[in-house]
Amino acid sequence: MQKGRAVGKSVVLGIESSCDETGAGIVRDGELLAHVVASSMDEHARYGGVVPEIAARAHLHAFRPVVRRALDQAGLRLAQIDAVAVTTGPGLSGALQVGLAGARTLAYSAGVPLYGVHHLAGHVAADTLEHGPLPEPCVVLIVSGGHTSLLLVRDLVREPILHLGDTLDDAAGECFDKVARILGLPYPGGPAIDRAARDGDPRAVTFPRPLTRPGDDPYAFSFSGLKTAAARWVERHRLRGEQLSVADGAAALQEAVADVLTRKALAACRAYDVQTLVVVGGVAANSRVRGLAEERCAAAGVELRVPPMTLCTDNGAMIAAVGDLLLRSGAEPAPLNVSIDPSAPLEYASLTPLPGSPRRAA
Ligand code: KG4
Ligand code: ZN
Repeated sequence: MQKGRAVGKSVVLGIESSCDETGAGIVRDGELLAHVVASSMDEHARYGGVVPEIAARAHLHAFRPVVRRALDQAGLRLAQIDAVAVTTGPGLSGALQVGLAGARTLAYSAGVPLYGVHHLAGHVAADTLEHGPLPEPCVVLIVSGGHTSLLLVRDLVREPILHLGDTLDDAAGECFDKVARILGLPYPGGPAIDRAARDGDPRAVTFPRPLTRPGDDPYAFSFSGLKTAAARWVERHRLRGEQLSVADGAAALQEAVADVLTRKALAACRAYDVQTLVVVGGVAANSRVRGLAEERCAAAGVELRVPPMTLCTDNGAMIAAVGDLLLRSGAEPAPLNVSIDPSAPLEYASLTPLPGSPRRAA
C-alpha cells in the first residue's frame, strides 16, 4: 500500500487542528518548506473563549484551502509527499477529529505513512526549524494560553519526554489574559500587558511568587492566585478612591510571571545539569520573560533558544517537524484506524504505540 520512496530526502506534511488554528506545514529533512495557518480566533472573540463546535466547523472549512496553500508554497503536489503527520492529542475532541479525518484521507490517497503526534512535542520541535537539531538533553518551557509545562527532552522521538512540571490551574498566558481584563486592558491580554508595562514600575506592587517556597514542588506552576491578587489590588484602590496605575500593575504582574517561569526553568537546568533552555509558546513573546530568561541563562552559562513567534503559536509546521524526525528514525506509522486522544499525557512524541511497547494504544 505504501509507495516506494525515491532515493533522497523525504517530504512530510504536518496537520494541526487541536484548538482554533488550522495549520499545514511541510518539512524536508529538518528544512521548513511551507507554513500556512488559518485561525478562527475572531469567531470566538465575542464568546470570550474558544467554542469547540465553532472551532471544529472552522477546521472543516479551512482544511482543504490551508493544505492546498501549503503545497503551493512548497511547489509540490500531493503525490510528492512521503508521509503525513497529524496532531492526535491533546486538544478539543471535535477539532482533533476533523484534522485526523483529513490527514488520514490524504495519507490513504497518497499511499504514504501516517503519524499521530503529541501536540506539545510539536511545540518542542518547532525550534528545530529555526535553530537546527536540539542538543540532548535540553529543558523546554512551554508557555502559551493553554499550556505551561517544563520538560526534559532527550532524543525527542526515540526517548520518553520527561514531564517535570505543569501548571496546577491557569496557564501563564491565561493569567495575562484574565489580569488584563481586570485592569481594563484589551484582549489578547498578554501583548496589552507587555505594552502597558513599559511605563510602569515593577516594584510598585508586590505580587506573590506562587509555589516558590522551600518544600513546594520546584517545577509545578500556579497562576490563579496572581489573578486573585491583581483583583484585590484593583479593589483596594477602588475602595479607597485612589487613582490606579495600570502601568505599575501590568509591570508588577509581568515581573512576577517572568520571575517564576525563569526561576523554575533555570532550577531544572541546574538540577539536571542541562546546558540549553528552549522557550516556546505565545508567552515567549513577552519582553520581560525573554529579557529575564536571557539574563538568567547568561549568568548560569546556559544557552537560550527561542523560536520566531510564527513558529511559537500553534501551526502545522511543528507537527511536520516531528513527523520528519519520526520518519527519519524509522518509527512505526499509525494504523489507519488510529484515534484521537483529547487528554493524551505527554510521554512520547508519537502517539502511535511502538511495536512491543507495553504502553497503551492512543
Ligand atoms: O501559543 P499561543 O499563541 O496560543 C495558544 O495558547 O496555543 O499563546 C497565546 C497566549 C495568549 O494568552 C496571549 O495573551 C499570550 O500568549 N501572549 C503574550 C504575549 N503575546 C502573546 N503574553 C505576554 N506577553 C506577550 N507579549
Ligand atoms: Zn499549543
